[in-house]
Amino acid sequence: MPQTKGILLSGGSGTRLHPMTLAASKQLLPVYDKPMIFYPLSTLILAGIRDIMIITTPHDLPQFQRLLGDGKTFGVQFTYRAQPSPDGIAQAFLIAEDWLAGSPCALALGDNLIFADRLEFMLFNATRRQLGATVFAYQVRDPERYGVVTFDETGRALDIIEKPKNPESNWAVTGLYFYDHRVCEMAHKVKPSARGELEITDLNHLYLEEGTLQVDHLDRGCAWLDAGTPDSLMQAGTFVQAIQSRQGLLVGSPTEAAFRMGFISVDQLRERGESMHKTALGQMLIKVADGSKHPSKHKK
Ligand code: TTP
Repeated sequence: MPQTKGILLSGGSGTRLHPMTLAASKQLLPVYDKPMIFYPLSTLILAGIRDIMIITTPHDLPQFQRLLGDGKTFGVQFTYRAQPSPDGIAQAFLIAEDWLAGSPCALALGDNLIFADRLEFMLFNATRRQLGATVFAYQVRDPERYGVVTFDETGRALDIIEKPKNPESNWAVTGLYFYDHRVCEMAHKVKPSARGELEITDLNHLYLEEGTLQVDHLDRGCAWLDAGTPDSLMQAGTFVQAIQSRQGLLVGSPTEAAFRMGFISVDQLRERGESMHKTALGQMLIKVADGSKHPSKHKK
């Protein structure tokens, strides 16, 4: 079975964040002390994924390259590709089809942050499934903004509806999706919606119809934030600040995630921290390196 590859989708128009996104990409805006894209990137790394395609607008692509480079500092490999116009999230699989070459794929939206105690375990389970798709559902106050999933009494997913006017549940589908090797074939079957987009909900619906869509619940101990509006951007930053300063734990650091996954050595981790020693983030990375009891375990 080929290794799961990852797509970080970071295009879109960001109209809900105007005027901030008139000159800068949404996913490069700061969420407290890191660019937004670092958070979903950390999630893909924690899923054990080393081959990652970053898809963004033709205009924003050079800035992403400048920030992230070829991926070596995180022990991964980045490939960049442009989405000429924001024609929908599911279009990612048409853009990446030749690169995926039949691999299973995880798709992370560049403006979604997931923070959970058992995240690595949940991600591991999702990458291990060989047939079908896995998505994550999270209870929200405003489900009408999202793809909404309904369940039967046994907890099995019954239906997913994109932005329903009268949602039948408050379980929203988050911006992290795992698909099997057939994802491009399935994406070709998706037709543009009324708003002219290839909807990710329609792709998920195809898996649901064939009975291979797994919907995992993110429980109350988890946080899922999408940073697409001024309020949610602020909330995400405040959340990260609170955890980091209260608990001294890093949130959404791809460097720390890469170290935890054994993608980079303790020396590389320390070097990265020292390159940013004037920042609290750099100091935290150095602290993680100092506190690592078994550096040899992480040596590459
Ligand atoms: P959205 O937040 O739904 O759209 P947007 O980013 O264009 O923002 P707005 O609604 O404020 O105009 O997109 C979710 C994520 O998916 C976000 O990270 C951008 C990305 N995206 C693409 O990269 N290409 C696309 O065609 C679409 C629709 C979204």
